[in-house]
Amino acid sequence: MLNPGSPSIILAPMQGLTDAPMRAVLGEMGAFTFAVSEFLRISTSLPSKRAFYRHVPELLNDGRTPSGLPVQVQLLGGDAALMADSATVASQAGAKAIDLNFGCPAPIVNNHDGGAILLKDPSRIRSIVRAVRNAVPAEIPVSAKLRLGWDSMDSIIENAECAAEGGASWLTIHGRTRAQGYAPPAHWEPIGLVRERTGIPVVANGDIWSVDDFRRCRDVTGCTHFMLGRGALANPYLSMLIAQELRLLPLTAIEPMSSDFDWTPCLRRLAYHSFEMHAHSPSSTLARIKQWLMLASRHGAFLGFDQIKRLDTLDDLFDALAVDRSVATVTYR
Ligand SMILES: Cc1cc2nc3c(=O)[nH]c(=O)nc-3n(C[C@H](O)[C@H](O)[C@H](O)COP(=O)(O)O)c2cc1C
Repeated sequence: MLNPGSPSIILAPMQGLTDAPMRAVLGEMGAFTFAVSEFLRISTSLPSKRAFYRHVPELLNDGRTPSGLPVQVQLLGGDAALMADSATVASQAGAKAIDLNFGCPAPIVNNHDGGAILLKDPSRIRSIVRAVRNAVPAEIPVSAKLRLGWDSMDSIIENAECAAEGGASWLTIHGRTRAQGYAPPAHWEPIGLVRERTGIPVVANGDIWSVDDFRRCRDVTGCTHFMLGRGALANPYLSMLIAQELRLLPLTAIEPMSSDFDWTPCLRRLAYHSFEMHAHSPSSTLARIKQWLMLASRHGAFLGFDQIKRLDTLDDLFDALAVDRSVATVTYR
């Protein structure tokens, strides 16, 4: 998965957004190093292998999307022993790497002792990472994904050091506290401090929407590993542009560098993976496509959302895109 000696671009876990069909489509862009699954919540009982296969169907394909992108399995929970047992089941189901979520801000999750609430108690982060690390075979890396803190950034170094002491192979830091939610800006400076202090690889995450953002994040953090979430969906070419910057793709990989981006092939691939491969219904597939285009439209990368948002079928949607291609424009920055 993450090779400390080589830069990485990681597709962020995003519950309800980066499910297996979306991971399959974005994997086909060829720029990501690996993807992290949406979290599987471990609250009171041990998940079965089948539960892992449902949640991360790539486990039935050697842990990879159809185009070969490796997928890491993310677990969320506060009970160290149960998390360790769950990680064991995940590894028996074929997980090649485990990530532990210490960042989810959802009250329903936090009120049940999961996600960002654990940032209030660094020793528990150490215990959970250690229990999972000890439970799975040594060749399976265990990483941790943290926010900067609960309501202040002061605790990030202690939390990160505890995760490292617990045996985390790398840390992903989302540059916001739980209290900051998703409000811009992300704070990248503390991510650089974590990188200097912990001595393990650190993945910088938060608000990389453009190549300029990527360059600034790299300069501020000194990191060579980056996780892209909403920006990768808003502009499906972003991962490729950043891969070029990191010399992970040749400079000629994206041709032509036009300001017009045709969304149709990407959306057809999402429909294919949702509908054909994962047996999602046409209506849920249509809803997923609209959700994606709404995100892109909020960030100026799809201009025709008003024209398509009330359409009732996939055929109508693709007809509308074919008639007016000018609505779908990505501006490269
Ligand atoms: C809708 C949504 C769902 C998310 N689900 C998860 C999740 O399951 N696990 C996780 O670790 N982070 C989750 N995140 C956080 C993202 O992985 C990422 O840390 C955050 O969006 C910041 O990165 P970005 O600015 O590149 O989007 C989610 C974010 C969003 C917007």
